Amino acid sequence: MNEKIRENFPFLKRKINGKSIIFLDNAASTQKPRVVINALKDFYENHYANIHRGLYKLSQEASEMYEEAHDKVAKFINADGREEIVFTKNTTESINLVAKSLNLSKGDEVIVTEMEHHSNLVPWMMLKDKGVILKYLKVNENGEINIDNLNEMLTKKTKVISTVHISNFLGTINPVKEIGRIAKEKGITFIVDGAQSVPHMPIDVKKIGCDFLAFSSHKMCGPTGIGVLYGKKEKLEELSPFLGGGDMISEVDYNQYKVNKLPWKFEAGTANIADGYAFGVAIDFLSKIGMEKIWAHEQKLIKYALEELQKIEEVVIYGPKEWSKRGGLVSFNISGLDCHDVAAILDSKYNICVRSGHHCTMPMHKKIGINGSVRASLYLYNNLNEVEKFVNAVKEIAEMVN
Ligand code: ALA
Repeated sequence: MNEKIRENFPFLKRKINGKSIIFLDNAASTQKPRVVINALKDFYENHYANIHRGLYKLSQEASEMYEEAHDKVAKFINADGREEIVFTKNTTESINLVAKSLNLSKGDEVIVTEMEHHSNLVPWMMLKDKGVILKYLKVNENGEINIDNLNEMLTKKTKVISTVHISNFLGTINPVKEIGRIAKEKGITFIVDGAQSVPHMPIDVKKIGCDFLAFSSHKMCGPTGIGVLYGKKEKLEELSPFLGGGDMISEVDYNQYKVNKLPWKFEAGTANIADGYAFGVAIDFLSKIGMEKIWAHEQKLIKYALEELQKIEEVVIYGPKEWSKRGGLVSFNISGLDCHDVAAILDSKYNICVRSGHHCTMPMHKKIGINGSVRASLYLYNNLNEVEKFVNAVKEIAEMVN
């Protein structure tokens, strides 16, 4: 299956210094299939006009194409329809939207895990000035949280639990269904950062039981500049609008405004129309392959990578040691080497792209006592041959220090 999938990605033909590139930085952003690249070109060449503003046919057509992308996303995560799908700029903006629009007040408590990306930390920290209290659910030495600890942290003031589904640093898959059940029982708003899960595994918001789910198009074969905030209809209706301006209103006079219906209430100003449309095409592409297949493929690769890296004495791996507890990424260090040096050698000598540094999870790195790590993250177009080359490269680099 994988070789057929690879044919869809023009990027895989790109060479640097005559050699192919092994792209293992998919947690940061993913390559685009030809259908998505062509969709952008076609939209700008044949269908482009501003949306929701023109009576003419071309504008109607563009509006429909953009709106239908919302329907595709809704179906992809089993939401109840386009009313529940707000297009934002990215996951970060989606979480900021909820954090700012929930209107939390002094004494309200928000629980996040210690493994959060900065995008699910800083928006909540910004509410500290209002007297909102931020509490951290501990992460143990195997990179996991414990639900008993969560239960102990809950008080009458707990208003929000916001957690990453799959950690972009540790790779941990968090027990979101269990958390969703607890949140529902206690009437707590539950937000899931799905940036590293929605692109890789089948997702059903009803099964998770979340009120909000945030993710990004560019991490799932779609264009940059489009993110999603899924929200249960009644929850989105309760939220205040995030930005004010055109398209988010139904009526305005000099003293007041009425908000537009969902989801446009949260999409102020001219939308990212072409990218939104092409995101729908990316969703079609992934759906046609099947998310179960994509997940199984990545699990096979991460199992191999994890087992082989663990055999290298100098390699220290962060997060769960068991592949079945992880998404398709692994962060590590080679004892005696700086993470950026390792990434630079992987690039210069082997044409292997990985991320190095704190991966926007500085607090978790500090807790472990490191400044940074090397991260290899997989996607549907990676194959076993590439992962073998990567593991061998790490072995060779580790041997250099001895
Ligand atoms: N959140 C992205 C990453 O983990 C950018 O690399």
